[in-house]
Amino acid sequence: MDKYEIFKKDFYKITGIDLNYYKEKQMKRRLTSLLKRNNFSDFDDYLIGIKTNSKLLNELLNYLTINVSEFFRNPDQWHVLEKDIIPKLIKNNGKIKVWSSACSTGEEPYSLVMLLTKFFPLKDISILATDIDESAIQKAKIGIYDEKSLKNVPYEYKNKYFIKIGNTYKIDDKIKQCVNFKKLNLLSDNFPKGLHLILCRNVMIYFTEEAKTKLYKKFYESLTDDGVFFVGNTEHIILPDKYNLKPIKSFFYSKL
Ligand SMILES: C[S@@+](CC[C@H](N)C(=O)[O-])C[C@H]1O[C@@H](n2cnc3c(N)ncnc32)[C@H](O)[C@@H]1O
Repeated sequence: MDKYEIFKKDFYKITGIDLNYYKEKQMKRRLTSLLKRNNFSDFDDYLIGIKTNSKLLNELLNYLTINVSEFFRNPDQWHVLEKDIIPKLIKNNGKIKVWSSACSTGEEPYSLVMLLTKFFPLKDISILATDIDESAIQKAKIGIYDEKSLKNVPYEYKNKYFIKIGNTYKIDDKIKQCVNFKKLNLLSDNFPKGLHLILCRNVMIYFTEEAKTKLYKKFYESLTDDGVFFVGNTEHIILPDKYNLKPIKSFFYSKL
């Protein structure tokens, strides 16, 4: 077995993260650059390092999970969500169940809450937000962001729901209280059910075709009959009918 194969096996035992589901070339290149940066010579050496030094393991986990996010990422899609998708879901269902499934440091679920304030009073808004990365979830719960990540936040929300502290912005507790954060590994955990809207954005790009196939099926099972699946800007589903899904707008899918 080559050194990378051994590394993947042991890494799975330590963390429960199966690197076989992440695109191999990209992952191997990224890990090699990280281990070199830490002065390890190869994957065997690095494995000993992460087994004996929790700092190294945490650094690796942070590096792997790529938490880059921003509020209202790809604003055109959020416009479609507000004007078209959400009004229809509310018309059919009244209250809607929403899941942000790779929520990173919270920008995505908090954007959803702000948007939903156009339709519901805050006390009636509750969103499930999950990620594999506990440290990202911790940051989300703290809710402090730099100016850059707010660049697409409409002025009315920025004014109403953020408090400026020095060069940073803190999200209002009223918005925070509407989000229920949990740790969930998309590749191995059970999914919640009965969702009217699921966001899975900017994480599928890291997965192999096999993993994507498995996930589209699981997301399908989690949606209500009229539920909508919202993906990232580079994550069009190829042949969606294979998964009984159909595009209803660019980057939005519903059941066939
Ligand atoms: C680039 S961020 C995307 C954040 C947000 N959805 C957005 O579009 O701005 C990717 C997130 O996917 C998470 N992630 C990676 N693998 C995952 C897995 N197997 N299960 C759940 N989340 C995962 C990472 O921890 C990271 O927070």
